[in-house]
Amino acid sequence: MRNGGVSETLSKNPSELSGEAPVRRLAYSDLPAVISIERRSFPAPWSLAMFVLELSKPAGICLAATEGEQLLGYLVCSRYDRVWHLMNVAVAPEARRRGIASRLIARLLEESRRELPFTLEVRVSNREAIAMYERLGFRSAGVRPRYYQDNGEDALIMWLD
Ligand SMILES: CC(C)(COP(=O)(O)OP(=O)(O)OC[C@H]1O[C@@H](n2cnc3c(N)ncnc32)[C@H](O)[C@@H]1OP(=O)(O)O)[C@@H](O)C(=O)NCCC(=O)NCCS
Repeated sequence: MRNGGVSETLSKNPSELSGEAPVRRLAYSDLPAVISIERRSFPAPWSLAMFVLELSKPAGICLAATEGEQLLGYLVCSRYDRVWHLMNVAVAPEARRRGIASRLIARLLEESRRELPFTLEVRVSNREAIAMYERLGFRSAGVRPRYYQDNGEDALIMWLD
């Protein structure tokens, strides 16, 4: 082992030691990296101002998954009265299928204490995301016709009680 290996190991948290990307609260300083992932993930990406607004909401939960200094994924969830609205989740294309989005959502459920239901909208064509949400227990509850302005696509509405 290299010199300093023991203290390096001790300073890491359990998810780092198991090779999983650790999850923490998203910070304003993450936003340049967020925007980079956002632009590679969505046909109609959010603006910087939209992320700043969400981060400023005291009742929201915004999370980051990291590897070393690098941001690999993020999640934005807002609370509206008696419901949580999962507004945005994305993972860097090169880091997908490693369970990162699932881990972000699992942490969200933990931090919210599951006292209120969750809802979200997802493009009907986004099979990967729909498969992930279904695997996490979300269920479809109808469609919002022409919800997405960029191409007029319908949104599938999903709920988790
Ligand atoms: C959807 C997204 C967030 C998933 O992130 P991820 O970290 O790769 O997801 P996970 O590794 O946690 O996947 C969990 C499960 O979802 C399903 N899934 C995820 N990506 C999939 C794909 N490309 N094809 C089929 N199923 C997929 C699988 O069941 C997967 O479990 P498995 O890998 O054990 O088979 C990611 O693909 C992404 O950033 N897409 C672009 C942005 C987006 O569409 N966000 C959702 C908006 S509503």
